[in-house]
Amino acid sequence: MNETDLETQLDLAARIVAESSYLIALVGAGLSKESGIPTFRGGDGLWDKHGEPPMDGYQRFLADPAAWWAQRLAEQEKMSDFSRAIEEAQPNPGHLALADMEREGILKHIITQNIDNLHQLAGSAAITEIHGNRTKQRCIECSRRWPREEFPSTSLRAGLSGEVPPRCPDCRGLVKNDTVMFGEPIPQDALESCYREAQQADAVLLIGTSAVVYPAAEFPAIVYRRGGRLIEVNPQETPLSDACAAVLRAPSGEALPELLERARRLVAGR
Ligand code: APR
Repeated sequence: MNETDLETQLDLAARIVAESSYLIALVGAGLSKESGIPTFRGGDGLWDKHGEPPMDGYQRFLADPAAWWAQRLAEQEKMSDFSRAIEEAQPNPGHLALADMEREGILKHIITQNIDNLHQLAGSAAITEIHGNRTKQRCIECSRRWPREEFPSTSLRAGLSGEVPPRCPDCRGLVKNDTVMFGEPIPQDALESCYREAQQADAVLLIGTSAVVYPAAEFPAIVYRRGGRLIEVNPQETPLSDACAAVLRAPSGEALPELLERARRLVAGR
């Protein structure tokens, strides 16, 4: 997209943002790319390079949770490049712009597919993590969540009865990390929160997502069908591009601060 087009699209997007009464964002791996975390698809993604992981990860967990935990603890000792990148990552200007938008009442909620906790580090609060959060553990029965520290990797005794696999102190359900595995249903509370937000929104920022994974990609479609407007922030096209009222073909770390600047001016000028 040439400069002039981007300028025009930025002005159009800023107007939609300034006119919206309930703006939400659907976020994907592309937002964290400028924080050093690889994406999954889009040519140089993890799945493109190494192939998609087995789709039955969750069924394997359920089949033998003790073995699953033992393997996970062993893996924590030797970190993969991806885990190291995610462990060391810091929010980038894209995350910070979203946190500012929330603070200034422009952005009402973020539905994120990212598990990296960078929204929280940037200062965002109104967040639904549809694929979970890597820094938390969760009971698969009651969905109670704990900060990972409460399950020290070297011993699972702190906070629990020392059994492996760890069990929920409330309902005795199995406890696993909060990230949603392939084959695992999206936790009900997260799903309900996403539908609630999509039912209220009149505009959506689609940021750094290939929009091919469901149910996440369904929420902007719900808003669009209700007459809402979509804005895409992505260097590449996606299946939702044609439905977008404005498209910013630029890295989100560059486009979002610029979009916020322009929206602020319009909001201030009202
Ligand atoms: N800024 C904005 N978008 C970017 C940037 C950037 N700097 N760099 C890449 N992108 C875009 C790519 O063009 C691509 O469309 O980000 C998108 C990343 O797509 P995916 O890797 O498919 O990530 P995502 O949509 O989040 O995947 C959804 O799939 O594998 C599962 O659980 C995983 O949550 C993930 C889900």
